[in-house]
Amino acid sequence: MSMDVYFATSNRNKFLEAYEILSKLGIILKWLRITKVEIQSDLLDEIAKKSALEIAKRTGKHIVVEDDGLFIEALNGFPGPYSSFVYRTIGLKGVLKLLEGVEDRVAYFKSVVAYAEPNGFVKTFEGRIDGTISLEPRGEEGFGYDPIFIPESYNKTFAELGLKIKNTISHRRRAFENFAKWYIESRRTIQKSF
Ligand code: IMP
Repeated sequence: MSMDVYFATSNRNKFLEAYEILSKLGIILKWLRITKVEIQSDLLDEIAKKSALEIAKRTGKHIVVEDDGLFIEALNGFPGPYSSFVYRTIGLKGVLKLLEGVEDRVAYFKSVVAYAEPNGFVKTFEGRIDGTISLEPRGEEGFGYDPIFIPESYNKTFAELGLKIKNTISHRRRAFENFAKWYIESRRTIQKSF
């Protein structure tokens, strides 16, 4: 007894990354191409949970949504939950400008995946990758902040490393992997009880 899991996102890049990660673990993700209603909150977890539940109830489907943030230590965690707004407004250039002359360029990406069912069940899973912010945008691949984020133990940005490498180490990979482990185990338990 399995139900399809739909990833509610308008971001094609995110869907493709998540699809590739989950298909290797035996879960075929479907794409529900919608724009989420995002509540205003300082907590990614709250935002993801509320959107997943709202969409699951509205559509009657099993839903995952994912919310990300880039947290820059020298800026006390900014842009964090506001990463999307900051990207659309001041962009990579603006973020680099805020870091002009700043030596400590430590940052991390955090991903929260929320899984929800129409009956009101909801659970979240997290993933994080540490790294630093580059001095200038580098690389052509990926999306969003990929050209300025250098993951720990590499000297290239996500955009230079490309999707294959990014997908083996990213915040998204870790969060979706945690979801997949739980999901596969919970399906087994349900099947056993039938
Ligand atoms: P949201 O969760 O879709 O709101 O994403 C927040 C912001 O982070 C957006 O501007 C995305 O472009 C950016 N973002 C999310 N995931 C990644 C990633 O894997 N690499 C680079 N930027 C990302």
